[in-house]
Amino acid sequence: MPSARGAGGPAVASDAITAAVDIDPDTSKGWLRRLWPIVSAHRSLLAFGAACGIVALATQVAVPAVAREAIDSAGDGFGERLRTLVILLGVLAIARGLTGGAYRYLLFKLSLRVDSELRMIVHRHLSRLSFSFYDRSGSGDIISRANTDIRSIQILFAFAPMLGMAVLTFFLAFGLMLWIHVPLTLVALATLPIGTLVGNRFRNRFLPLSWIIQGRSAEVASVVDENVNGTRVVKSFAAERAEIAKLARAARRLQWASATSVDVRARYNPLLEALPRIAMGLVLLYGGWLAIDGQVTIGTLFAFGAYIIMLQLPFRMFGFIVMQSQRAAASAERIFQVLDTPPEITSAPGARVLDRSEGRLTFDDVTFTYGQEGRSTRPILDGFSLEISPGETVALVGPTGCGKSTVARLAARFYDAGGGTVRLDGHDVRDLELESLRRNVVVAFDEPFLFSVPLRDNIAFGRPDASLDEVIRAARIAQIHETVANLPEGYDTVVGERGYTLSGGQRQRIALARALLPEPAVLILDDALSAVDMGVEEAIGSALRTGRAGGTTLLIAHRLSTISLADRVIFTEGGRVVATGTHAELMATRERYVQVLADAEARAAEGRRGEGAAGLGAKGPAP
Ligand SMILES: Nc1ncnc2c1ncn2[C@@H]1O[C@H](COP(=O)(O)OP(=O)(O)OP(=O)(O)O)[C@@H](O)[C@H]1O
Ligand SMILES: [Mg+2]
Repeated sequence: MPSARGAGGPAVASDAITAAVDIDPDTSKGWLRRLWPIVSAHRSLLAFGAACGIVALATQVAVPAVAREAIDSAGDGFGERLRTLVILLGVLAIARGLTGGAYRYLLFKLSLRVDSELRMIVHRHLSRLSFSFYDRSGSGDIISRANTDIRSIQILFAFAPMLGMAVLTFFLAFGLMLWIHVPLTLVALATLPIGTLVGNRFRNRFLPLSWIIQGRSAEVASVVDENVNGTRVVKSFAAERAEIAKLARAARRLQWASATSVDVRARYNPLLEALPRIAMGLVLLYGGWLAIDGQVTIGTLFAFGAYIIMLQLPFRMFGFIVMQSQRAAASAERIFQVLDTPPEITSAPGARVLDRSEGRLTFDDVTFTYGQEGRSTRPILDGFSLEISPGETVALVGPTGCGKSTVARLAARFYDAGGGTVRLDGHDVRDLELESLRRNVVVAFDEPFLFSVPLRDNIAFGRPDASLDEVIRAARIAQIHETVANLPEGYDTVVGERGYTLSGGQRQRIALARALLPEPAVLILDDALSAVDMGVEEAIGSALRTGRAGGTTLLIAHRLSTISLADRVIFTEGGRVVATGTHAELMATRERYVQVLADAEARAAEGRRGEGAAGLGAKGPAP
């Protein structure tokens, strides 16, 4: 969250947003190849890490061979040769320690860089995606893609190269063993086929379980998440018992899967661990016999002991890496699904930048349908035409679900009209540069979202460089200044995750101040005063009239108190404008208008009664 005062952070964020790296857009390529451009941006890290790894590996494999020489020459006393070998062992140990450490460090660094790069890419793309994408996807799902999935790729990047190194170690150790003594090598390898078989069986049983565990953990997490976020609803309906029972069911399902997986591990692990020891026993048995016979040396037995451990390494890691790479591949697919979704709403090339709009908003025979092509849904707007002159305050009234919010969304181009044109100052909004359009057309929604930052920053969200005076001016118009100033920390008060420390009406007024601060040419209040006290609303109305002189304001409303703030009322139903005039004119001539307002009033009264009974504190009346 950038600070409103512009200190620190933001510069970094904007650099990162323009970062050149991106995934390979070619969807026919495999997931690793699509990620390659990100890894490739850190080639030097990768090359240096790999070089350290190879040196570490060579020294590791060399140590038993040198130790073997040293042990075998110990019989001749501490001579020149033994001294050289001991020094060599010391050097090898130090080199192994340094390069091994550097290798691990560099690999982790690389994997974390890939991780943060990928996070930036996903986040940048998410911020470009249109409303329609968010309509289709659940927020939990998007968050999990942006977190868990990226993390599982990072883990693979950190550990997969280690498997590569372990495999190389295997072949080097194997080669050296063959070079030292062929029959003894074969004995040392005797248990490997059994190990492979047992390991395969283990993986076949363990992998599906680990998938089940992952799914069921997510189940438990989502129950917990809903209970934390929906705790007010749960308590209002005294549904705690049912929710606890739901969690218990999910927890039992998770417990079964986890216990079964522990069981499988308990059965197979001792066997898998015993196999190298059995191999060691066989080597000692056969090798000891050979040694007594004088055919091999004690040093050889020692070296074989060390190599047997190295041979097991790749087999031990293999299962984990296979599991992790399956997980990473699935994660990559899920991330690519997001990244391959093109943003639907973008500025056209060479779009006009509108510095300061005069505030003329026109809808010309607009048709609009939600949902994707292929799915036939009824049009929400159908031949909707409307003209709002600069400086006018207009109320848009209609039955619930008739498409009023949709009108607001089309004006700010959150969606594009299917047919007809939406114009600002006579320019088709699709020809305007998007940022400049949204600077000029600002929508305040009925459910305000407050960020977990000081109130001052919440109000200055659209213009982080605003001075405190400007913030206060907007807050005064929104009739929230007194309330904020009386808080112990005033404008520095940090509001909760969703501003729960404020009442519903107070939150709406903070959101109104936020919308007012950039002084947009067109301000659309979409039911944005619905939770505000009627008396306060009147004060807001008169402050708006003086504070927004010259600006165009569109009020979407059900309440008479809001409608009375407007110069003109537009009555809409069935996807088109049915009538326009003053409130009094419509009351006198349009029966349907009277009915819609009466229905809205009845619903509001019902809502107030419901709130009183259930004790839903979040939308309490404003003081
Ligand atoms: N994102 C969406 N995807 C699909 N359908 C939607 C979406 N948003 C709204 N709708 C549908 O479009 C219709 C119009 O919705 P809209 O929100 O514009 O109504 P409204 O007039 O603002 O209603 P209200 O007065 O209750 O706020 C409704 O039937 C609604 O179900
Ligand atoms: Mg609405």
